[in-house]
Amino acid sequence: MKKFLSLLLAGTMLFSMAGCGAPEEPAADNGADETAAEDSAAVTTVQDGLLIWGTNAAFEPYEYMEGDSVVGIDAEIADAIAAKLGLTAQVENMDFDAIVPAVTTGKVDIGLAGMTVDEDRLKNVNFSTPYVEAGQAIIVKDGSDIASAADLSGKVIGVQRGTTGDEYVSDDANGVGAASVERYANGPDAAQALLTDKIDAVVIDNEPAKKLVANADGLVKLDETLTSEQYAIAVAKDNTALLDAINNALSELEADGTLQTIFDKYLNTEE
Ligand code: ARG
Repeated sequence: MKKFLSLLLAGTMLFSMAGCGAPEEPAADNGADETAAEDSAAVTTVQDGLLIWGTNAAFEPYEYMEGDSVVGIDAEIADAIAAKLGLTAQVENMDFDAIVPAVTTGKVDIGLAGMTVDEDRLKNVNFSTPYVEAGQAIIVKDGSDIASAADLSGKVIGVQRGTTGDEYVSDDANGVGAASVERYANGPDAAQALLTDKIDAVVIDNEPAKKLVANADGLVKLDETLTSEQYAIAVAKDNTALLDAINNALSELEADGTLQTIFDKYLNTEE
């Protein structure tokens, strides 16, 4: 994970270092800090002083409810970026397929939701530098006759509506051959439908799949992943100042180990 992030963020790092002005900080500083500070002056957000992030908080470990609070990897990243920009992060919890529209209509500043960079979304929003490598996984009930992707043919598959998992199993070009695709508001609802035999399998992102299996009795995740995806932060096309500031903040958070600390807290690295 760490290596991959370094690679993903390396380009941004070079850019931010090359673009920074006269260093006012000690030589030990790589110049990235004042870059974020400089950026923050130019940044405008929906509401002064706030960085409003749209998410769907039913996607543990990236975002989920703990009591009344939204917690998880993305929640901590939102706080860390906001701090870099002198803003306070404020979450707006909504349906996953409402997030990109919320960004484009200026209801929220960013979409931060374990959101995969994909062609369709790129028509409507810009994406930051990717911060996670992910893929779609398959969950089945214990004792299922589905042991691999090939066995999904002719089966009823549950997904979260509007996700890349939905797209993947719904697009005939991928040859999954589902008998039907059942679309749920979120992953836990799909997992519940699987437990009660309404569907034969769930296709959902790999780390959330691990959590769904860990949180329920009688579900297993297959080892195979169906796709290779990258998560990034969605920003309105016209707010390039915010996009730049977020990219610089991400590269700083990568360089100073903050991102790794956040991942280590939520991801089970033993697998
Ligand atoms: N990575 C997938 C996508 O971008 C699923 C994301 C779902 N996120 C969520 N917070 N429910 O479509």
